[in-house]
Amino acid sequence: MIESNKDKISDNRFITSTKNMTDVEIENSLRPTSFDEYIGQSKVKESLSVYIKAAKSRKESLDHVLLYGPPGLGKTTLSHIIANELGSQFKVTSGPAIEHAADLAAILTNLNQNDVLFIDEIHRLNKTVEEILYPAMEDFALDFIVGKGPSARNMRLKIKPFTLIGATTRAGMLTNPLRDRFGIICRLELYSPEELKVIIDRSAKILGVEIVPEASMEIAKRSRGTPRIANRLLKRVRDYADIQGQGRVTLEIAEKTLKIMEIDELGLDLIDRKILLSIIDKFGGGPVGLDTLAATISEDATTIEDVYEPYLLQLGFISRTPRGRVALEPAYKHLRKEFVGG
Ligand SMILES: Nc1ncnc2c1ncn2[C@@H]1O[C@H](COP(=O)(O)OP(=O)(O)OP(=O)(O)O)[C@@H](O)[C@H]1O
Ligand SMILES: [Mg+2]
Repeated sequence: MIESNKDKISDNRFITSTKNMTDVEIENSLRPTSFDEYIGQSKVKESLSVYIKAAKSRKESLDHVLLYGPPGLGKTTLSHIIANELGSQFKVTSGPAIEHAADLAAILTNLNQNDVLFIDEIHRLNKTVEEILYPAMEDFALDFIVGKGPSARNMRLKIKPFTLIGATTRAGMLTNPLRDRFGIICRLELYSPEELKVIIDRSAKILGVEIVPEASMEIAKRSRGTPRIANRLLKRVRDYADIQGQGRVTLEIAEKTLKIMEIDELGLDLIDRKILLSIIDKFGGGPVGLDTLAATISEDATTIEDVYEPYLLQLGFISRTPRGRVALEPAYKHLRKEFVGG
């Protein structure tokens, strides 16, 4: 069903990079609304702008877009921007929210010409619902079977041309027929600290927080490449500055807050360290299967895979092998452990 623009609310833990309640409020105020305000992801932005211009000049709907990448990197934000730049209406729903094929059919038949339909967590659509999408995406049509037994006939109902934007943290879980129907596939990358600093400074301005450049750079370095985490850390640091009666965020205040939150110089938190220490100490550096690892540290395997691993992989701290996860030398160094493996 079409949901109001409230995103999924989960977990209260800090690094999850999924959202919690306060995030929803701040995120809406901090969310960039145009390409100009959307920092980083230059390759994605460039190609999307070209496709959007082309679609507009032809007065056609934009090709369907698949956005994928770890949580909190700006998939939802980007899909809003695409709709804005197209000057199109934006409708939101999500994979788990559409239970029956008829629900999706209703959404699709109600779309206006060139509308954008955003389906979050598109990998979680069920099979019968997904099948409705195939002809809808390809031919802007819905296929029905009318009647029963020998008198059953196929009926085709035309719908208005529209753009589907699918977002997922796991492109690998999309079925091939669905993935093949997206003309534009964009992978969002983790952000550099320099990009995150720009995001933090922008957010600070919007929130009315005075912050010195060294402090925003420090937060940027510890935000694990993720704007959502950067904004969240900024807010915590501001709270601390307020309590200290200073108002202004200095490097010292930023460092103190991060220390209290047990976030280290690289942005790793307790769970990251648990993951790494478990691979190193309990499994001799690996390889260890994801499920075994998850059970050992009482964590959800999907959370480890979607939320924690992308950053640990980027740091070169772990690798994924066919036989499981392996801890690499930089992880040993960071944790001050002796590296014995080869
Ligand atoms: N490129 C960017 N520039 C500035 N701010 C950004 C950018 N990308 C994301 N943000 C900020 O990060 C927040 C989280 O982004 P968003 O909700 O779009 O992530 P997401 O990829 O949809 O995450 P999820 O997978 O959990 O749905 C936004 O509210 C926005 O403030
Ligand atoms: Mg989102």
